[in-house]
Amino acid sequence: MTTIDNEKLGALVGKMLGDLGGAFSVPTVRIGFRLGLFDALHRHGPLAVSDLAARTGLAQRYVREWAFAQAANGYIAYDADSERFSLSPEQAMVFAVKDSPVYLEGAFDLGAAMIEGQPKVEAAFRTGKGVAWGESCGCLFCAVGAFFRPGYVNSIVQAWLPALDGVLPKLQLGAKVADIGCGVGFSTLLMAEAFPASSFVGYDFHAPSIEEANAHAKAHGLAHRVRFETVPAKEIADRDFDLVTMFDCLHDMGDPRGCAKHVRKLLRPNGSWMIVEPIAADRAADNVGSPVSRLYYNASTMICVPTSLAQEVGEALGAQAGETKLTELLTAAGFTRVRRAAEGPFNMVLEARP
Ligand SMILES: C[S@@+](CC[C@H](N)C(=O)[O-])C[C@H]1O[C@@H](n2cnc3c(N)ncnc32)[C@H](O)[C@@H]1O
Repeated sequence: MTTIDNEKLGALVGKMLGDLGGAFSVPTVRIGFRLGLFDALHRHGPLAVSDLAARTGLAQRYVREWAFAQAANGYIAYDADSERFSLSPEQAMVFAVKDSPVYLEGAFDLGAAMIEGQPKVEAAFRTGKGVAWGESCGCLFCAVGAFFRPGYVNSIVQAWLPALDGVLPKLQLGAKVADIGCGVGFSTLLMAEAFPASSFVGYDFHAPSIEEANAHAKAHGLAHRVRFETVPAKEIADRDFDLVTMFDCLHDMGDPRGCAKHVRKLLRPNGSWMIVEPIAADRAADNVGSPVSRLYYNASTMICVPTSLAQEVGEALGAQAGETKLTELLTAAGFTRVRRAAEGPFNMVLEARP
């Protein structure tokens, strides 16, 4: 007979309450971002419900329920004496300050996109086939761009590029750079803004992402220096790049080994390839238990594995492949010097040299 350990059960149910609270908060938090409720509290708080409704032009009854939901979430503060709501400086970093490293609007969008994508991925579990990036839900690609942007804004130029061997002086003098799997182009544009003497091309096989990337380039006044092209990684025809970058996309490719071999051909003999991948331990058992790996394994199930399986080869590395496996792949493609150049809480940065 199975015996239930009530203490263990209590602990599990307690954890589930917290987890489900987070899951239930996804739609209300997204409403807060989209309708400017967090922004209004950040700019004008502390605010009573009537003032928050007036500032945002929204229906007061909804705003009241939303505000108590966010207070219950612990995402905004409520002062019972004055009956006003506000954002603490720390809450503002997560919900209002767009360039903060922990601004999480994109993370909530990604959660919603994964739920929207569930029927297609669920069907693919039965067939073993993939779900192509372009077939995923309406704005998976915007959500992914928004999810990674805060990390990129705070790391690419400040920490990751300087960690590469001799790359910074080249970028300052004028280098030719390819950003492969660039998505909506945030990484490409951040680099282009920082290094005006260099030229940048962003490549991605997903046409709507490239359209969005071109719109971002125009909006930032960078369209004359940054080009975006719709092309699969293995079909890039240009050559002689000083630097190739890949941000959170090598593991999404169907044939990452073929792509790595192709990158070898794109680079000048003394060029560098910066591969930014999700942080992970080598052994899956060592990832289980990490909250970051938890996010990545779930996203990998819903996005990364289906995307790779929809392409030729379908290696499906997954978002938690780990450094040893990635290094083996890069070495097999002809890169002789591979090392971990930097890391952050969400990413590891590998450098591969021919
Ligand atoms: C997780 S997203 C990352 C996008 C972007 N680098 C970022 O960090 O926001 C993965 C990207 O890889 C692109 N991708 C996947 N397989 C590809 C391939 N074989 N060739 C070119 N792009 C590919 C997808 O279209 C998508 O934009």
